[in-house]
Amino acid sequence: MKIVITTSFEETCKKAADIIIDQINTKPDSRLGLATGSTAAGIYPYLVKANKDGKVDFSKVSTVNLDEYVGIDPKHPESYRACMDRWLFDHVNIDKKNTVVASGLGDPDESVKAFNKAIADGGQIDLQLLGVGLDGHIGFNEPGKVLYSHAHREKLTDSTIEANARFFDKIEDVPKEAISMGMGDIMKAKSIVFAANGENKTEAIKNLLMNDAIDSQWPVTVIKMHPDATVIIDEELAKMVGYSC
Ligand code: GLP
Repeated sequence: MKIVITTSFEETCKKAADIIIDQINTKPDSRLGLATGSTAAGIYPYLVKANKDGKVDFSKVSTVNLDEYVGIDPKHPESYRACMDRWLFDHVNIDKKNTVVASGLGDPDESVKAFNKAIADGGQIDLQLLGVGLDGHIGFNEPGKVLYSHAHREKLTDSTIEANARFFDKIEDVPKEAISMGMGDIMKAKSIVFAANGENKTEAIKNLLMNDAIDSQWPVTVIKMHPDATVIIDEELAKMVGYSC
């Protein structure tokens, strides 16, 4: 893993965006694996600006998102489809036909099947953007005895439901289940850009940076096995974790 320590969350977002922009400029038809969450939401404005400034062209880019809530209408403002449209797709010259977000509506097993097919048909992801949940999940691969390789349904942990309640009117409105890319899908990406910030990520980042274990109770730890992963955190989080370069 390449570990980059920045001076602030803004710098973390800019660094992650710069890597994505370089990827697209090197390979204009890049396939990007994209993430949601407030960390990813901090990165997208830099991509939008670079596109507006003529510094990056999304016309040949294709994307696939990590996950979507089960039972949510894509028009719901907190669906990951709506988030992606609002944060990125509506503001850059991407062809939305080339953007995949799993469907939260209809029979979830059918959505999983369609999502797995879309992941396979799209070919290898060139760059996968990742954040992390408080409980160490990546995508929505929650901690447990077992992790899954391909896209599947995932019951969200209480910690994830509580963390995501901030996006909904009340905690009862937070979906309890999601469809997520699997760990194998994530690990097959050519490169990974991982970004995290905030004190509440300390445990997850400690497990990622401060020991050598690959632990299914901390799904984020699989990143240690990836041959081309860049981890970007700010110095405040690095300090809380006890990490020094
Ligand atoms: C959601 C997503 C994850 C993401 C996480 C991080 O749970 N499913 O893929 O990593 O949010 O959220 P935040 O950046 O808001 O802490």
